[in-house]
Amino acid sequence: MAEIHRGLADVAIDTSQVCNIDGERGELIYRGYDIRELADKASYEEVVYLLWNDDLPTSTQLASFRADLAQIFAVPASVHDALSVVPQGVAPMHALRTAVSMLGSLDLDADGVDDANVRRIGMRLVAQLPTVVAAFQRIRAGLEPIAPRADLSVAGNFLYMLTGEEPTEAATRVMDVALVLHAEHGSNASTFVARSVASTLSDVYSSITAAIGSLKGPLHGGANEAVMKALEKIGDLAGVEQHVLDVLGKPGGRVMGFGHRVYRVLDPRAMVLRKVAEKLAAESGDSLYFDMSLEMERVMEREMSARGKQVRPNVDFFSASVYRMLGFPTDMYTPVFAVARISGWMAHLYEQYADNRLMRPRLVYQGPTGRKFRPVEDR
Ligand code: CMC
Repeated sequence: MAEIHRGLADVAIDTSQVCNIDGERGELIYRGYDIRELADKASYEEVVYLLWNDDLPTSTQLASFRADLAQIFAVPASVHDALSVVPQGVAPMHALRTAVSMLGSLDLDADGVDDANVRRIGMRLVAQLPTVVAAFQRIRAGLEPIAPRADLSVAGNFLYMLTGEEPTEAATRVMDVALVLHAEHGSNASTFVARSVASTLSDVYSSITAAIGSLKGPLHGGANEAVMKALEKIGDLAGVEQHVLDVLGKPGGRVMGFGHRVYRVLDPRAMVLRKVAEKLAAESGDSLYFDMSLEMERVMEREMSARGKQVRPNVDFFSASVYRMLGFPTDMYTPVFAVARISGWMAHLYEQYADNRLMRPRLVYQGPTGRKFRPVEDR
């Protein structure tokens, strides 16, 4: 009988050059570079280049990479038309998934899985996911989408396309840091889904559409929205402790934004985002959600230690309060995660298509055996 690994825990599906996570030491490495250093010093474009190539770009390579992206920031008008028929109240993750699928239908060379074509599509998706998310936000608010500006970075452009105002350098840097931190994370659920679809030699758009569906779930990228919804529902500092106790008191209860399949110590991305959230809270003079987050961390630490478990905040926990302070509506948090993670998904698709083997795991059958068919009138 095949050995069962529920949730594919500790199963390695292949080798990879893209990223390494040391869950015991709390380290996340993109192609040899520590995430803390990248979050501190690198732009999102430099990180995308790094994930897609052997090393960081030279200044000439970076300039040409940025220029190539800027040329394709805009999406076809028919994508705006499609976004405008999404009914009011539908979550932006549905709109994003639909738009990526539509970009595939509009691409006359969607199916080619040779490296050059896959990389061409990767550039388009990294350039255009921010445009789609910003356009949908404007359209559902009854506003015209704002055309991207070729002179702005991916982070700056995203903020600009939401409001039409050029963002401050500080806001652009916070966005850049969030994009860098969310860009890549090994064989997480959505990346595995993307690689799995690609392993059938299906096209990039299908792989990414499926990955967006996977990211949406509250156990994965959807947790950042769930964290903010919980904080909003709790409403004040005094209610945090009871909320945690209520959740933990339910069978299988999970406090959103805590725990990780790989990390046994604090997720290094949460560490960086906690500092960003603290700084933004101090600058804005509104620290309610940050203070509530710290209180939740304190109560969880106490309760989990008492149960002998190591369950610490993950990336989604503090990103929720950071996104709130950037002014994003709660249901846009997971689309913002996708805007960043598209770079990691693509890095994995380059590897998958370059040296493919069909993903085809097994299930251990435990159903009935030896039954005999009887015609319907005899049952
Ligand atoms: N709240 C309470 N207890 C928890 C939590 C949590 N958030 N996470 C883990 N635990 C406990 C759990 O009780 C379990 O104990 P036991 O073995 O006695 O049942 C133990 O820790 C292991 O948990 P698990 O759920 O079996 O672990 P997993 O590796 O299957 O799941 C997880 C990992 C992320 C799905 C889970 O920690 C969880 O549901 N967290 C909340 C959702 C969340 O924040 N997701 C974002 C993940 S990180 C970023 C991303 O991928 O987007």
